[in-house]
Amino acid sequence: MTDPEGPASSRPGEVRRATALVGGLRLPADKSVAHRALLFNAMAEGEAEVTVPRPGEDVRSMASALEVLGAVSSIETAPDGLIRVRLRGGGTRAAASLPGRGGETLDCGNAGTAMRLLLGALAGRPGTATLIGDASLSSRPMERVAAPLRRIGARVVTEDGHAPVEIEGRRHLQAVTHELPVASAQILGCLALAGLAARGTTTISVPGPTRDHTERMLAWLGAPVRREGYITTVEGPAGFEARTIDVPGDISAAAAWLVAGALHPGAHIVIEDVGLNPSRTGVIDVLRDMGADIKVASDGPTEWCPEPVGTVIVSGGQPLRAIDLSGGRVAHVIDELPLLAMAMAAAEGVSTVRDAQELRVKESDRIALVVEGLQGIGAIAEELPDGWKVSRGSPREAAIRTEGDHRIAMSFAVAALTGVAGTVVIDDPACAAVSYPTFWTDMEHLAS
Ligand code: S3P
Repeated sequence: MTDPEGPASSRPGEVRRATALVGGLRLPADKSVAHRALLFNAMAEGEAEVTVPRPGEDVRSMASALEVLGAVSSIETAPDGLIRVRLRGGGTRAAASLPGRGGETLDCGNAGTAMRLLLGALAGRPGTATLIGDASLSSRPMERVAAPLRRIGARVVTEDGHAPVEIEGRRHLQAVTHELPVASAQILGCLALAGLAARGTTTISVPGPTRDHTERMLAWLGAPVRREGYITTVEGPAGFEARTIDVPGDISAAAAWLVAGALHPGAHIVIEDVGLNPSRTGVIDVLRDMGADIKVASDGPTEWCPEPVGTVIVSGGQPLRAIDLSGGRVAHVIDELPLLAMAMAAAEGVSTVRDAQELRVKESDRIALVVEGLQGIGAIAEELPDGWKVSRGSPREAAIRTEGDHRIAMSFAVAALTGVAGTVVIDDPACAAVSYPTFWTDMEHLAS
């Protein structure tokens, strides 16, 4: 079982095998949807409320940045961990815009999505702003958004390609065709928001699948944004009215329990109110292909959210088989690959991940840290330039180095909880709060 007084009791970050994993859970808000619900309402005409269940630190960074810009009228914390953010948008029905006169410093913390989406939104607002972040965010590539924003008329200065990023927006940007070298929803979202301030058709083409939350939510708000295949178009200038949104639970947080539930023979876990956008449910498909027993009941989109929402139930005890992931399939599980690596380390046979080089520029170099951790816990793992190869070894105790990366911390906690690893000690358990502030208490709640 986990440490009787909690995984962090005797030694902080220590996790042992549970004898069972049973119960129901409510998740933190979907980070991708929450960022957009807050930001888009801050660019709209009028006022609306965004309800965010159990927000992680990344979402709080977005809310704080919008507060600095003057878009937040109030933030109310409800006892069940919900926050209700009332926003007053800076735009009109004809032209979306963030409020504020310029000169602001916006601290994005650890949140790459917040920084990149904010840059796109600020590109169409006259005035300057400086975006800063923590050490991890300040090492992530920002020219991938800075260069296309410069091309359409914004002034953007990075420090050697990294944050701090200074931006000076213009009311009228140029509508162009962007051909992105990387299939990234953050870059696409950034350029779609800037496209709202450009006269004419902005076209953004990506080389592979990306999550479609930006297009889905902007269209739901009434903005002329369309996606067909890998091409997104925005007709500018355009604005929209504010609209109240309830953010669903995060499937990427649910993934921890889907993997734990699939791996532990004594598991039965029910997760309600999960966002089930088809561009995000790849983790369910992959685990099912490996042999896991996962049931999904989708209620579809609601009046309060453009995303399908539903319930997911996982039961343990099925033998898992190895899987090879590459190409477009990888994009659908990009944030869940560290967790899926734990399932791969328990499966029969050799699993391979390829075409996942983007993992090297996430909150950490996730390829390096996943392989280092897998080798530490006794799995047979090999690092590839764009992924890894892994098969079952002999589980052993290990100290896990996370470099403050929430997904690395949660992945190896799941490995220990399910016996894929021996007891582990996670070096920075608090970093889970970036996306999942109740991760450790949820673990306590499920484990016996
Ligand atoms: C996100 C897109 C993904 C993902 C990130 C959130 C988003 O990154 O890894 O956690 O909300 O747009 P990419 O920009 O690489 O697609």
